[in-house]
Amino acid sequence: MTDRYCVVGHPIGHSKSPQIHAAFATQTQQDIDYQAIEAPLEGFVTTMQAFFAQGGCGANVTVPFKQQAYDWADTLTERARRAGAVNTLVKQSDGSLLGDNTDGAGLVTDLHYHHVALRDKRIMVVGAGGAARGVLLPLLEQAPASLMMVNRTEQKAQQLAAAFGEAGPITRHAVDKPMAAPVDVIINATSASLHQSHPPVPHGAIGPATTVYDMVYQAGCTTSNQWAQRQGAGRCLDGLGMLVEQAAESFALWRGCRPQTERVREQLREALN
Ligand code: ATR
Repeated sequence: MTDRYCVVGHPIGHSKSPQIHAAFATQTQQDIDYQAIEAPLEGFVTTMQAFFAQGGCGANVTVPFKQQAYDWADTLTERARRAGAVNTLVKQSDGSLLGDNTDGAGLVTDLHYHHVALRDKRIMVVGAGGAARGVLLPLLEQAPASLMMVNRTEQKAQQLAAAFGEAGPITRHAVDKPMAAPVDVIINATSASLHQSHPPVPHGAIGPATTVYDMVYQAGCTTSNQWAQRQGAGRCLDGLGMLVEQAAESFALWRGCRPQTERVREQLREALN
């Protein structure tokens, strides 16, 4: 019997996950069925219960259900616990559901793919919502020299820095406090590009050797990355590769084999532009 997987969200029509997982399945010669399911806003648990009762083997969870999936999973991986959110559910042999979060690993793998060094580097994470929280532990595990949190609402950056304090050298930096020297890597975990805006980056943080990574992707260059280029950023990357890598990580959890991502990246990029 074909093993069934899904991505659940609201809305879900735009999701590229079915296309990505279909490509992974073809490449690895796995017989899987992967569908997009739109759950009613109040109906995440009911929808998931029905899916798993009908033989579902695993699910990706996206906006706005990642916190509900976190609450609903029977057990959690450490990275899901620290993220406070679940983007991957895995049905275990005893029928229970394991909640994991592959977003941060997807980001780190994409940065490695692009040869962006993190070890001993000065990293700045801009944004303090769910997207930021999901990537902090995997970034700290890369042993950066420092990780500075910046956010428009500064109190939220302060709270996240405090929550991850024992996991690595994380501090809060005020938006209006200029930097003495540019940082090596800026992770833009805000949704600013989706509002045709740019992230609140302290003056002096961007220099010619700075890589700016927008976790959002858009056709062409994201709004935030266009702004970062104007500020003199050496290199700008968007989140399309992260999307593919978090999917590959989920696929590996479910199927026990890790697909190649290069061709899928190229296909998505062509379709986007
Ligand atoms: P997500 O779960 O995707 O991270 P979120 O919790 O709504 O979404 O967080 C969005 C982040 O983007 C927040 O850090 C938000 O800043 P505030 O905490 O001050 O709200 C940031 N953000 C959204 N739009 C922004 C904009 N136009 N300029 C700067 N920051 C923005």
